[in-house]
Amino acid sequence: MTSPEQPNIIRTSYLPALSNWDELTAMLPDAELSIDPSHQTGLSQGRQSEVYIITNHEGDPTAWAELGTNWVLVWKRMAVHKQLSHDEALRLQSSLRDYQNNLYQAGWRLPALFASEVINGDDGGFGIACAEQFIPGGDGEILLKDPSAPEHRKQALVEEVIMTLYAPHTHGDLPRRVLAGKEVSALPYGLDLKPANIVLIEPEDLLFVIDVFGPKQIGDDGQWLTYFSKIDSLPAQSLQAVTASREGAILRFWRLSEQFWAGDSMNLKERRAWMFDLLLAAGAPRQEVAFIADEISHGYPWLDEIYRESAV
Ligand SMILES: Nc1ncnc2c1ncn2[C@@H]1O[C@H](COP(=O)(O)OP(=O)(O)OP(=O)(O)O)[C@@H](O)[C@H]1O
Ligand SMILES: [Mg+2]
Repeated sequence: MTSPEQPNIIRTSYLPALSNWDELTAMLPDAELSIDPSHQTGLSQGRQSEVYIITNHEGDPTAWAELGTNWVLVWKRMAVHKQLSHDEALRLQSSLRDYQNNLYQAGWRLPALFASEVINGDDGGFGIACAEQFIPGGDGEILLKDPSAPEHRKQALVEEVIMTLYAPHTHGDLPRRVLAGKEVSALPYGLDLKPANIVLIEPEDLLFVIDVFGPKQIGDDGQWLTYFSKIDSLPAQSLQAVTASREGAILRFWRLSEQFWAGDSMNLKERRAWMFDLLLAAGAPRQEVAFIADEISHGYPWLDEIYRESAV
């Protein structure tokens, strides 16, 4: 595929707010969707979204000068097998931009969202489609699993996650809440923080969160603004524990990172010690580090319990 220009750090609110595929193709008359595997380089197979590269008529991923960008775009069909009602799909679609803004305010970089719309699903229900900026380089799961990828990039992936979660201007003084039976630091948003949902771009090692579906906003009462069991297999509070608490997000992210990490520059013990040093250097409160360390050294019993309860 053609190599896209390095994306800049972007503010989604400055971008054209197109509302659907028709408006997008009116601006991009040459656009087609491609599922040709040769164009899928760097895409992991997701669970509930189909992801396509938007190509021109020749089938080439291309930069869309019409949108004033040098970026390649992806088209996602989200939750099309979840039998959402039209109302549910609309609520999820209409909160995407607000949720992106929440994450942006919290210090996460995001692909530009150009268009989103409610679409017919594949099973009589409804889904959501969106067109967004393609972030090149392959997601974090691909990076961690690649034995030939440099160790410093894998480490940078973890460092960026931890630095963002402990940045004092965005994540200082988080309230303590009991979630799934443990007292943890509650994030003001939820985030599906898996390695497959983040991309680290070279050469500056900037981290992007590329999966913001379904939007996980927390209201003033500390509860989910929207929660649909059709989308999220965990019960509401367990979902908060693993996506909207700092300890839960880190533990989930770290457990997957340990599983995927190919490379023998450090053994598991050394890698864990390296991660705890990162936490301390990032300014993590002692009680959080102690809880995370305790969980990891005992084989993640809290995470296991949360997932066992809901049998997922
Ligand atoms: N904007 C993007 N830039 C680069 N790669 C992307 C982008 N969006 C998605 N991908 C790739 O496609 C994969 C699947 O996309 P995504 O994570 O959005 O869907 P999903 O995992 O099916 O959704 P869910 O996590 O809700 O089940 C990602 O893991 C990533 O490899
Ligand atoms: Mg995903």
